Amino acid sequence: MGEINFFPDDLEIKDQKIILRLDLNVPIKDKVIKDDTRIDLCLPFIKKLIQKKAKIIIISHLGRPKGINVPELSLLPVYKYLKGALKTNVYFFRGSFDGKTKEKFSHLKGGEVILVENIRFFKEETEDGQDFSKKLAELGDIYINDAFSCSHRKQASVHSITKFVKKSYAGPLLKKEITAINLVIKNKKEPVTCIIGGSKISTKINVITSLLKKVNNLVIVGAMANNFFVYKNLKVGKSLIEKNTKKIIEDIYKKAEKYNCEILIPEDCMVGTDFEGNGKNKNLDEIKDNEIILDIGFNTIKNIQKKINDSNTVLWNGPAGYFENDNFSKGTMSIAENISKNTLEKSLISVLGGGDTLAAVNKSNNKLTFSHLSTAGGAFLEYLEGKDLPGISVLK
Ligand code: 3PG
Repeated sequence: MGEINFFPDDLEIKDQKIILRLDLNVPIKDKVIKDDTRIDLCLPFIKKLIQKKAKIIIISHLGRPKGINVPELSLLPVYKYLKGALKTNVYFFRGSFDGKTKEKFSHLKGGEVILVENIRFFKEETEDGQDFSKKLAELGDIYINDAFSCSHRKQASVHSITKFVKKSYAGPLLKKEITAINLVIKNKKEPVTCIIGGSKISTKINVITSLLKKVNNLVIVGAMANNFFVYKNLKVGKSLIEKNTKKIIEDIYKKAEKYNCEILIPEDCMVGTDFEGNGKNKNLDEIKDNEIILDIGFNTIKNIQKKINDSNTVLWNGPAGYFENDNFSKGTMSIAENISKNTLEKSLISVLGGGDTLAAVNKSNNKLTFSHLSTAGGAFLEYLEGKDLPGISVLK
């Protein structure tokens, strides 16, 4: 497989129609953007394209609307944000894609921007529809994928669009992400600790299995750890668990033994009776039927700190608890702060990824430092796993 076709800085693009695939999938609640990191990271490149007088058509998804128009998943708040941040005309396109769409875009002048409404409102997007991809491609002269975090998806605006557009490139953010992750994979110094949080073990099983061969310690936190408690016959009250994970966990332990990887799961936790309430630190055998595990406990925080202090490389994806409520954010914050401290003081190589991890880190009052902070979640994990991502293969 060849090299990735990166967007050349000196390419003449005046009045060229550029389809720019970005990841503007940001957390939005009641039409308010809760974390704008992903958008802000995209701004310098959009500004550069504006300055070069390209006609810019931005495509992104928001959430998983399953092919229907879900008003809460409209990109309208993002459109308003872009309109405020960019000193040019920014339009919002909410129409469909047919023979007349190109005509509707013809008013766009060099240096102006159209943001297309959530592309996943069309089921053909997630189906990687060929006709749909062709219609999208017809809107532009050049296609740029600057959404590393979406590149693990075989979807129309990331994958098949490249078959129909004249030229396809990888954008600068995508380049930055893979360069940084490649560097860590190549130069990783042992001991390597990987901290994995989040809720669904079945979606991360492949990456966990692959990491067991590559890392010295695997730390499981977040709701995912609840499945390990159930596996060990502990009661988890009303906590989130996934069905049928016994076999998966059994396999994880077997492989960990084979590859000499130590698995660390929480030994205590912070529980509440609802997501918005207060927390109580409890041992795992004390959890009542009406309680929910919403963070790791004090002893676990200390155990993880020690693992981080003893490591030379740390990879982290997925928060340790429901960090949106301050009462349950201590686990996640302590992990973030400890990794940052070791990165600064002991040259720890640290790579973090995932939308939630990023949002959690941004909640900290302190300025935190990491070797690389990836905006990608699933793509970051699949890339670490060594997979060829469909959205990147097509740029080679
Ligand atoms: C992400 O948030 O990781 C990306 O935007 C991809 O979203 P998805 O998992 O819904 O494809």
